[in-house]
Amino acid sequence: MNKEIWFKNETTNPTGSFKDRGSSVEITKALELGATRLVCATTGNMGASVAAYSARAKLSVKIFIPSDTPRHKLMQISVHGAKIIKTKDYTTASASAERLAKTGYYYLAGDYPYRGEGQKSIGFEIADQFHFKLPDAIVMPIGNGTLMWAVYKALHELSIVGLIQRIPKLIGVQAAGCAPIVHAFEAGIDGIHEPIKPVKPRTIASAIEVGNPIDGPKALTAINRTGGFALAVSDREILAARNLLGREGIYAESGGAAATAGLIAAMKNPKFAKQLNEAKEIVVLVTGHGLKG
Ligand SMILES: Cc1ncc(COP(=O)(O)O)c(C=O)c1O
Repeated sequence: MNKEIWFKNETTNPTGSFKDRGSSVEITKALELGATRLVCATTGNMGASVAAYSARAKLSVKIFIPSDTPRHKLMQISVHGAKIIKTKDYTTASASAERLAKTGYYYLAGDYPYRGEGQKSIGFEIADQFHFKLPDAIVMPIGNGTLMWAVYKALHELSIVGLIQRIPKLIGVQAAGCAPIVHAFEAGIDGIHEPIKPVKPRTIASAIEVGNPIDGPKALTAINRTGGFALAVSDREILAARNLLGREGIYAESGGAAATAGLIAAMKNPKFAKQLNEAKEIVVLVTGHGLKG
């Protein structure tokens, strides 16, 4: 069956990734709650976005970030005036930010509920752009799983009020070197009754290099409830997808091209291709700009 594949280009947001959708709500909320200092853990894009929106709001920010983060992201964060503290990996960054927030002097920014509320706008926009006759599947990369849950929550809310009749299959893509959610999905683990096993990440797709995803159970819920699936792609497949997007005029970072790689891999794999057979329209999220490294 012929398919229409749509790319939702999130690289053109103010700081070059979809994270701005969440930061807009989250930083507004921090201001409303009277916060003056923020702390945030990041693989890069979140930090750049939180730093930019906080600069605009005149809030001071500390960013915990893995030391091997691409230098353009570090530069972006420091140009916006945030203080950078380098850590061994994202799991350590996340624990450090949470520890500092517990002192009571810092507002904890990151993959928490207010951000998800902002990221829901991706789901609302897809519904709007498809005139409420939704595509058959939406493919996206997974790091912490917050994006996946936000898209699901938006579509679920639209279905509750009767604006859409069905929710597309949600398909999550991780790098093979960092795929705790894919492993859980394959093992039938939902992350609620049995925990997702953390992994030691190793991939070029640093934006999604999250070994212990905080919203993993929610992402698995979104995938399972919509009849979707999760799959892993190699770094080589991610780079090939990035080049393919480039030939279409979209410059994505590797993590931003992971969903495209995932769709290509799924269509070649009989296990997944069968599930996509009937799909006429598929949306792929391209989540971060290539100039970020
Ligand atoms: C470019 C890019 N794509 C995808 C993701 C994954 O989003 P989430 O962590 O919400 O699953 C991130 C997270 O940092 C990202 O920066």
